Amino acid sequence: MAASAPIFAPIGAPLYRYPKREQDTLQAWDAGDEYLLQYIQEQQLDISEEVWLLNDSFGALACALDKQTAKLRHIHDSHVSQLGTAYNREQSQSTQADFAFWDCLEPWQGTPSLVLMKLPKSQRLLTWQLMKLSQILPKDATLICAGKVKEIHSSTLALFEKHFGPTHTSLAQKKSRLIFSHNAKTQQQLPAPIRWSVPDYDFEMQNHANVFANTKLDIAAHLMLQHIPKDPSLKTIVDLGCGNGILSLQAARLNPQAQIIAVDESPMAVASAHLNADENLGPAHQVEARVNDCLSGFAPQSVDLVLCNPPFHQQNAITDHIAWQMFCDARHVLANEGKLIVIGNRHLGYHIKLKRLFGQVNTLASNGKFVILQASKRPQAKGN
Ligand SMILES: C[S@@+](CC[C@H](N)C(=O)[O-])C[C@H]1O[C@@H](n2cnc3c(N)ncnc32)[C@H](O)[C@@H]1O
Repeated sequence: MAASAPIFAPIGAPLYRYPKREQDTLQAWDAGDEYLLQYIQEQQLDISEEVWLLNDSFGALACALDKQTAKLRHIHDSHVSQLGTAYNREQSQSTQADFAFWDCLEPWQGTPSLVLMKLPKSQRLLTWQLMKLSQILPKDATLICAGKVKEIHSSTLALFEKHFGPTHTSLAQKKSRLIFSHNAKTQQQLPAPIRWSVPDYDFEMQNHANVFANTKLDIAAHLMLQHIPKDPSLKTIVDLGCGNGILSLQAARLNPQAQIIAVDESPMAVASAHLNADENLGPAHQVEARVNDCLSGFAPQSVDLVLCNPPFHQQNAITDHIAWQMFCDARHVLANEGKLIVIGNRHLGYHIKLKRLFGQVNTLASNGKFVILQASKRPQAKGN
């Protein structure tokens, strides 16, 4: 069991990041959440009917507003955020409101009296969310967004002006600021996914707004593409943290006999991986893309090869715990003699983690910046 997290004053109970970890030094809410809640209270804003929350990472706002609001909609391009919010709602017994999780691509329908946003890290996702909100909300509807002062630049405010409407900000409080924007752009069309090519591999890629490697091939993925094995004995290959699915495309081309499962926690990534498999591999391809938290729910010993270019941040926090979870999950689902191939920045020290888990690790390739490591599951290794 994880140690108890600090109490989140607005709900008088602890709030946890997800997954819950022993001695987590990162907090599940920030000063922007507190500023938004304080503003609502001071201004006596109407939250009795329907409230939409965008990018509420671990449910701080959802838990705080739950009992005061008839309808809450939690909107995020993150399955992990949904899991964390569900967990925190359950812990704080926040179960009274008519509550729903929406991802960013599904239709948003309703008549919210208040829309609150936490500033997302990606400007492309921000733009996309502003444009979608502006289509749905009535003219002059107010959007209130909280963000860290150091992340609110004049270019950020220009995006609100351009894609939503007239915008101003509050004074700073605990290094956070509120952005108020008034809808004046109700007729916008949402942009299509960005397209780019990988001529060396003859791939045409499409990326939805929140997908890693926005407009060009990631340099780590470029190196990894050269080291994906072609092996007729492989039956099941997992692309863990698939993003736009570029590694799955190459794995599928080289291994037409194998089933490829592309996994990501971002619904926009999974939708992009679907689009890219359909466009590059033809209609009868063997790639299945799934929204999932790492490999939870996968059967033990069911996979022959896991390919992984792990993330090194969660929301805005730099952390290696997701990479660790990915390696542990890979070890669990791999069949005996199954292989995990990982690419990472040299300085991240993944070989130490892999050695601890798998007993032995080989270097497949390296350059000045990245290293590709391979670990094999031995029947006698520790764990499982
Ligand atoms: C560095 S990117 C790699 C993307 C792609 N494989 C590539 O090489 O271009 C890492 C990916 O891991 C995904 N991710 C982060 N946390 C995850 C989790 N808990 N479960 C599954 N995927 C996750 C991110 O959404 C992101 O798409």
